[in-house]
Amino acid sequence: MTERQILVAANWKMNGTLETIRPLLQSVIQGVQGTKSEVVICPSSVYISELATLLQQSEIKLGAQNVSQLEKGAYTGEVSALMLKDFGCGYVIVGHSERRALYAENDVMVAKKFMAVQKNGMTPILCVGELLEERESNCTEEVIARQLDVVIELAGIAAFENAVIAYEPVWAIGTGKTATPEQAEEVHEFIRLRLARHDNEVADIVRILYGGSVNAGNAEQLFEMANIDGGLIGGASLVAEDFLTICRAMR
Ligand code: 13P
Repeated sequence: MTERQILVAANWKMNGTLETIRPLLQSVIQGVQGTKSEVVICPSSVYISELATLLQQSEIKLGAQNVSQLEKGAYTGEVSALMLKDFGCGYVIVGHSERRALYAENDVMVAKKFMAVQKNGMTPILCVGELLEERESNCTEEVIARQLDVVIELAGIAAFENAVIAYEPVWAIGTGKTATPEQAEEVHEFIRLRLARHDNEVADIVRILYGGSVNAGNAEQLFEMANIDGGLIGGASLVAEDFLTICRAMR
């Protein structure tokens, strides 16, 4: 089995101002020195340029929270993959449940965003996850399979050699209700097996992050699971000490 490096990605969502993100970032830059995990920060797109400058001497990588699936043109308010690349983004979150739910992003759009990111040499972080009703009616695997299969079909399995998957059960996001390590592991294993139907090697190397109320107290137990390769962190990534504790949580 491949040794997969833990990846901890901060999703700042629509939070922060220059006044708050500068000291937060400074503490994180200093605190992550010497950690073995790969660390990515995804600020709001207006702060990408600022972070690109501040992260110049740091190991921390820059990411974005969203991207247009289209290349360029008259799409007011959109940000293209080329623009993100231009400012040094290495990662882009696609298909976050908030975008699926609040901005009507469907599986095909998400797959197109995934491809736009890769076409520009960046790594997509593909979010998948079920709603509470779906879990309660035992549809978790069906939902995850559908979300994954569309991307596999449109982008091809080989595309996952340079992709990260984030399992974020919607009921666990911002609710303080984390999936137990066992609940999460069950879905992570399912995701890996789903990819392995197409290509064992790709399934083995792809990193699968868990997201949904990860905090300083539960990260370690989650990251101990065989198929959990790190986390996508919302609320706790806005508090330097908490985020650093998560970055230091190892297998
Ligand atoms: P919370 O960590 O705030 O639950 O958010 C998770 C998330 O949506 C990360 O993308």
